[in-house]
Amino acid sequence: MSIIHTELIQKSAQLLREGRLVAFPTETVYGLGADARNPQALTDIFLAKQRPFSHPLIVHLADFNEIQQWAIDVPAFVSRLAANFWPGPLTLILKKRPEVSNLLTGNQNTIGIRIPAHPVAQALLRNFGSGIAAPSANRYTRISPTTAEAVKEELGDKVDYILEGGTCAVGIESTILDLSGNQPAILRPGIINAQEIEKVLNHRVSFLRTDAPRVSGTDLIHYAPETRLVLISTLDFLQNLPETELPIAVLTREVPSFMREGIYWIRMATKPKQYAHDLYHTLRELDKKNFKKIMVVKVPESEEWRGVSDRIWRGAEKVDF
Ligand code: TXA
Ligand code: MG
Repeated sequence: MSIIHTELIQKSAQLLREGRLVAFPTETVYGLGADARNPQALTDIFLAKQRPFSHPLIVHLADFNEIQQWAIDVPAFVSRLAANFWPGPLTLILKKRPEVSNLLTGNQNTIGIRIPAHPVAQALLRNFGSGIAAPSANRYTRISPTTAEAVKEELGDKVDYILEGGTCAVGIESTILDLSGNQPAILRPGIINAQEIEKVLNHRVSFLRTDAPRVSGTDLIHYAPETRLVLISTLDFLQNLPETELPIAVLTREVPSFMREGIYWIRMATKPKQYAHDLYHTLRELDKKNFKKIMVVKVPESEEWRGVSDRIWRGAEKVDF
């Protein structure tokens, strides 16, 4: 549950109007917000994150009826997606209106739009009264923050104000669905999965077309903790790991069959939604300890695990055991 402090919402909205950066909670991860109509504020987002200007930002809106102010040629079926998934952890890529800043869109003719469900985000958007551009509130290539403290660790005084809203319920970034091409395509998997979207659209969706616009989340190094992260399939070999490779942390969904000094077991959830909720927070905390590696046991290949498996795969070294 999050408490909405009206004065803090007003203060945040006012800072946004003045062109400042305000980090705020969403149900997925914390966002680094700026007035989406203010080019200088948008530039400051890229500088604060040290993110290349070619990587577009998502515009957050309070309500579906604002979508026409940002996008054109919105397909009729979008209202079905909105009715099912908004407000919520889904971002739609649509054709942008010509006057929308190229800073938002990485010079592409498309725009990412999301209506977040978090009550604090909703209150902020309604008070602000226009679109808020917000990437995840982390430095480029780092793990997205799921608490206000994590935002502070990531950005420190590069952000003018951090609006508190507790721990993010979803814990990984929104599903990105590209509707600007001939076929709907998922550019970034998330907790809303392809099957759920297909059911609403009554149409197949594909994954990441090769001609798709740039999505920074698809860079291989994205979402990495500083400690080396390695994907593993079994636990047995850890019994014989040389002492020199310890200490390590191991994220597993099973009860380990052995104990060993220097191996720090983390029992992860067996359900994908709970796993996603815990993942970034767990990695962030482990990153503060002096482990030589963080080993992550692979998750199932089913559709409902795709958002989680995408994030751990991107953060990991491309070494397989
Ligand atoms: O859950 C989320 O989506 C969070 C919260 C704060 O809303 N935001 C987030 O933003 O993850 P960011 O910037 O870290 O990731 C957004 C992704 C980027 O990889 C960006 O490249 C992609 O969305 N994106 C934005 N606009 C796009 C566009 N027009 N075409 C293709 N990809 C786009
Ligand atoms: Mg991000």
